[in-house]
Amino acid sequence: MEPEAKVTSLKQRVFFALLPDDGVRVALSQAAIRMQKSLRGRRIRDENIHLTLAFLGDVDAGQLARLKAVPATVISGAFLLVLDRLGCWPHNAIGWASASNVPGRLLELSRNLEAWLRIEGLDLQSRPFKPHVTLLRDAECVPMQMPLSPIIWKVADLALVRSQLLPGGSRYEVVARWRLPRVEERDRPPFA
Ligand code: 2AM
Repeated sequence: MEPEAKVTSLKQRVFFALLPDDGVRVALSQAAIRMQKSLRGRRIRDENIHLTLAFLGDVDAGQLARLKAVPATVISGAFLLVLDRLGCWPHNAIGWASASNVPGRLLELSRNLEAWLRIEGLDLQSRPFKPHVTLLRDAECVPMQMPLSPIIWKVADLALVRSQLLPGGSRYEVVARWRLPRVEERDRPPFA
């Protein structure tokens, strides 16, 4: 087999996600450190902190090319996400941060993306969308309430991320990015 053909037949594990800016990442990392003191578990590496919108799992090169062509109609406007809750799910031992008020535009983006992926026939490994940022894995979950001083995340882009499972843990790489327009920009007629 030609080397080129070998490369294109490889499957890659990908997902759509929101990636925090540096300030939000630091605040979430600090929250994870505090959480780990009571729940133990393994902290997500700072550079891997994200919020998953749609998980595809393993895709081939042709599917990856189609995933990079997200239509403009899928992209909702930019929004603020206020992370103000920490919790833990015993069923998967995940410690997480989330928002008590989920912005409509986040739900819109997730719904649009999911609908488009289905139309495209891309094999979405979907589970009900519960927006959260995983901070700990293998956590010893106990009924807990931890205060989280609100972390204000200005969500301004969507990313398609490739994940490589390496012996030292997952390594993420951004494959494509789309800017979420500010609503004033989106509503403004072109050339106005
Ligand atoms: P988690 O953090 O809640 O486990 C990369 O693996 C990202 O994809 C993680 O954020 C992970 O969510 C999410 N993920 C993994 N498998 C998934 C699935 N079957 N459905 C939805 N999201 C998934």
